[in-house]
This record gives sequence, C-alpha cells and structure tokens, in this order.
Amino acid sequence: MTFRKRWRFKLCRLPFLFFWLLLGFFVMIVTHLDPLFGEFKEPAAAWHERVVGQPDFEEILEARDQLEMDGLSPLKKSFKEDQLIIVPSKFKRKTNDVKKGNYKFVKPGSGKKGEKSTAVHGDLGKPVNLKLDGFEKDTEESGLGKHGFNEAVSERISLHRRLPEVRHPLCLHQQYNRKLPTASVIICFHNEAWSTLLRTIHSVLDTAPKNLLKEVILVDDLSQQGHLKTALSEYISRLDGVKLIRSNKRLGVIGGRLLGAARASGDVLVFMDSHCECHKGWLEPLLDRIAGDRSRVVSPVLDVIDWKTFQYYHSVDPQRGVFDWKLDFHWEPVPKYEKKQHGSLVSPVRSPALPGGVLAVERHYFQNIGAYDPGMSIWGVENMELSIRVWLCGGSLEILPCSRVGHLYHHRVPYSLPDEETVVKNKIRVAETWLDSFKNIFYKRDMAAYLIGKAEAPNCTERVQLSRRLGCKNFHWFLSNIHPELYIPEDRRGFSGELYNVGTGYCADYKTRWGAAGDPVQLSPCSGNGNQHHEYNSMKEIRFGSGGQFCFDVRQEQVIVSECTLQEQPHFRQQWEVRQQSGGIAHILTAKCIEAVKSGASLGLFLRPCSPVASQHWHFEQLIVMNEG
Ligand SMILES: *[C@@H]1O[C@H](CO)[C@@H](O)[C@H](O)[C@H]1NC(C)=O
Repeated sequence: MTFRKRWRFKLCRLPFLFFWLLLGFFVMIVTHLDPLFGEFKEPAAAWHERVVGQPDFEEILEARDQLEMDGLSPLKKSFKEDQLIIVPSKFKRKTNDVKKGNYKFVKPGSGKKGEKSTAVHGDLGKPVNLKLDGFEKDTEESGLGKHGFNEAVSERISLHRRLPEVRHPLCLHQQYNRKLPTASVIICFHNEAWSTLLRTIHSVLDTAPKNLLKEVILVDDLSQQGHLKTALSEYISRLDGVKLIRSNKRLGVIGGRLLGAARASGDVLVFMDSHCECHKGWLEPLLDRIAGDRSRVVSPVLDVIDWKTFQYYHSVDPQRGVFDWKLDFHWEPVPKYEKKQHGSLVSPVRSPALPGGVLAVERHYFQNIGAYDPGMSIWGVENMELSIRVWLCGGSLEILPCSRVGHLYHHRVPYSLPDEETVVKNKIRVAETWLDSFKNIFYKRDMAAYLIGKAEAPNCTERVQLSRRLGCKNFHWFLSNIHPELYIPEDRRGFSGELYNVGTGYCADYKTRWGAAGDPVQLSPCSGNGNQHHEYNSMKEIRFGSGGQFCFDVRQEQVIVSECTLQEQPHFRQQWEVRQQSGGIAHILTAKCIEAVKSGASLGLFLRPCSPVASQHWHFEQLIVMNEG
C-alpha cells in the first residue's frame, strides 16, 4: 500500500519537476551563449580586454591562441588550462586589481597619487612591526624561524642600500654593444619577507638602466602572509614598470617562472629569486653576451648575502657550476685549462651548469628550446635540466664575472623546500630524459629515485620528443666535451654497492660534504639508500662520493678518504686489491688488510696484517641489479 501511495505522491509532483528542469535548461543555454554573444558584440577588442570577472573556457582558448601567435607554442603545453588565465584589464577597480580566473592582475602605476594607504608605513614602507632587541634571543620574532634568515636585521637596512664596488677594475672599462636588447626581470615569490622582496625589486629598479629594463614581473605564488596582499599591491602600484601577477594555486618556482615568461615582452628574460640585491652594472654584461649570440644562457656571479648579518660577501675567484651523479648542484673552481683558454679574469666562464637563482636567457630562445620542463613541480633541479638541455641542444652556459648579484642564502630552508619526493621526481625526469644509459649511475646512488621511478614511471615522452626535434646530442657528448672532469663510475657487478663488513654487520660510510676530503672512513648501520655506495674500479681505486670524487687512502694506518690523485700522479697509496674469495681488501703498498676496529666510541677502518677474521671480511652489496647488457 505504502509503496503505491508514495508513487502517486511523486507522480503528482511530476509537472513541477518538469517545469524546474525546463527552467534550468533554459538558464543553462542562456549562460552558455552569453560569452558567444559577447564575442560577436566586440570583435575588434583585444583578447585581454574582454569579459571582466568571468573566468571561463572562452578566454583560455584565446589566451592559447595568443601564446601561439607570439611564437610561444611550446609554452602552451606548459600550463594546464586552469592556470592559463592572466588578464590585464582596462576596467580598473579602486584597488586596481581585477580578479580573473585564477589570477589577479595589478596594473602598475595605477595607484591614486596622494591617496593615503590604509597601512601605516615605516621607513621601509613596511607596516611597522620592528623589533629591535637582540635577534639571537627571539628567533621567532626576528624571522629566523619563519624565513630562515634574520628578518629583524633586514628590516633595519635600507631598501635602497648601495653595495660596495667589488668588480674587477677591468670590468669598469668594458665596452658594451651600443644597442642592447631589453630585459624583463621575473621574480617569483612565496611567503617572502617584505624587506627582502622589496629590496630585490628596488635594487633592480635602482641599478638597471631605464632604457634596458622593459619591466619587472612579480609572480605571487600563493603567498599566505598578510603583508604580501593589499599592502604589496598598493606599494607596487606606485612603482613604474612593475607588474604583479597573483596565482591562487601553488605553481612553484618552475610554474611561476613559466607564467611570468609568458607575460613578458622584453627581448631577454631574467629570472631572479626574490631575495637578491643587484650590484651596479650587473645587467649590461648579461644583455651584451646574449646580444652577441642568442643561444647563450648567462648568469651573474652570485655573491653571498649573509643570512644573519646581511653583510655582502663577494667571491674573488670565479667559480663554475657543476653537478654530481645524484644530480645535486655544486660550485667548484674553474679548471686551469679553462682559465688559460680565456685569459682575462673578467672573461666569461663556461659552466657545465648554472645555479637557479639568477639567469638570463633570450625570450624566444627560451621558448624554442622548451622553456622549463612543465612536468616538474615546485622547484629543484629545474636549473640542471635547463643546463643539460642548453648544452646538448646547441647552446652554451656562461657565468659573467663582471655581472654580480648578491643572493641571500638561507641557513636552512625548510619552509620553502618542497618535500624530498618532489625533488626526487624532478630528478627522475632529468635522468629519464637526458642521461641515456648513464641514468643507472644516478639510480645506484639514489635508491629513493630508483624505487619511485619503478613505482610510477614518469611520462617524459614529450621531452624526449623535444630532444629529437631539436636534434640534441647525447649525454656521452656532454661528459666528453662539457664536463670531462666528472668521473664516470664503472660500477662493475660484484665490485660496487655498499661496502659491508661481515664482522660488525655495518657498512663503510663517510659523512661528506662535496669538497671535504681528509677525514677517516667510518662504519655505520647500512642505510640502503644509496648514500653509502662505493665502487672498486679497474684502476684499483675504491671510490666514494656523489661525484665519485673521493678515494680510499691511508694516514697512519687508518683508512681515510682523499681527493683521487692516481690519474694525475701515479702512486700506490690509493690502490687496493679486493680479494673476492676471502673477502679481504689489501692495501697494495703495505700489503696489509682493512679491518673494522673499535677506536674509542666509534668504529674505524685500520690496516692490520691480513688474517681470515670476520672483521676483515668485506663484500660489496649491490642494492640494484640492472640489466646492463
Ligand atoms: C605520455 O604522454 C604522451 C604525450 O603527452 C601521451 O601521448 C602518452 O599517451 C602518454 N603515455 C602514457 C603511458 O601515459
């Protein structure tokens, strides 16, 4: 009974339901047609001047067309559809920012002159909250906890401070091309401190010649802090030539820079971190080198701004950027042969890799060689990917000693570090796209990468196709011609992996920094993460380190690591004989064997007369077995 009743009840309502459906349908049609009508009404309007406040599909398509018209077609793939909208609008509101889809665009110079801003500004233009007592005691307030540097000190320093002249005297007499290309400086930021961000912007405005600086484009990568909202918009609106793009979705440095690049109109893109200070005359050398050859990607010398005192330290000897087999970036002195080849102290330095902090690249060249890999997220190794790609695909990288920019190195960066997995995934993309069979060397030193790569193989199809389209060379060429100093591990089966000691159950280990040789080898619990990877090669060295740059050596019967010297200056101190059958490792010069010995609180490796004890029994534990033909 009840069943039937219920049905009757529903049937009674059917006409109503039908009516609502019809109404809904009608509304839907009207809303969908509206943009179309809009299009017919104003056919002559420029693409970006339309449709205020209506993020919709229509604009996305148009934005794409625009990108293609500008010859930026590789870029269109860089954005997911919902990331594509940035629309400068003529319809200014009082606050001068117009919400458009995912972005708010603030036009420069549109702040009403003489209008008092709501925030109270101190000397530095920052809403006043200076804290002048000792920063050591009060780390939270001073920004140590928040930003990884001393914000209180930064706030007391002028936004327009002059840096000391640190350029080589020869730089002051350099002649530059009369007609240099113009630059768009792109600065992405995420929760940057007010003073450091503003000092970055002002230092660009104060140092770059007006006729060479097309614009400064700020990309707010979803900052949450209050001062970066209205106060920043208002501040920026009073600066000439500075644009602000806001994203309401986290893009990361890579996505943010791509977005800024798509909006830039200068001949040259200058990507800059949001905590830099430009030295006088920094821009001209960069533009001049690119004017001479648009396939040069160039970087200034990055001087150090101390995170604690904000003092400016300049580096004296030019360094170059390199990377190791874990795809981590390092600085190292320029090799002698490079110095000889280039003569002058102010000549450009060829660099296997560029740091990510500040770099300049011709805008169309950047797009043509595939911008940044849009498959990467947040940040990390995007500079390595770009570096390898530029070299392999016909360009070059240089660091220019006459161009200097100070860079604030955070003493720790947990707040801005993407989680480790993100970086590892980006590394996997570099390995899979560019390293050819050399990628196995990388995986053996980074187990996380190996496991993640196995579990979810990244799709690098597009990047590999790009490489083919551009006719790029292979990684072997890079190793032979661009970075011949990078040691190529042999990683022979049975002679590489963790060096396991049977007696203690521990593995040989060395807590290492890139250039820090000279300490004893330790024994630690086996980590299985690739950090303890050792390799016994055909030159009878036992190599260690992410670049294979360290060798087992001996000092007073104790095994230490040193820089490998065998190839340059033959001697036997770094030569060993691995006896697979007995598990012994003998020092060739002294004919003694490596034994795990307790010394004080720790375990060390010492030379002892060879005997069949377990503490002299070693074997290489290969973590990954690959099919290597
Ligand atoms: C990888 O990406 C390409 C192009 O983006 C696509 O055609 C292909 O189907 C993808 N492959 C896989 C396995 O997802």
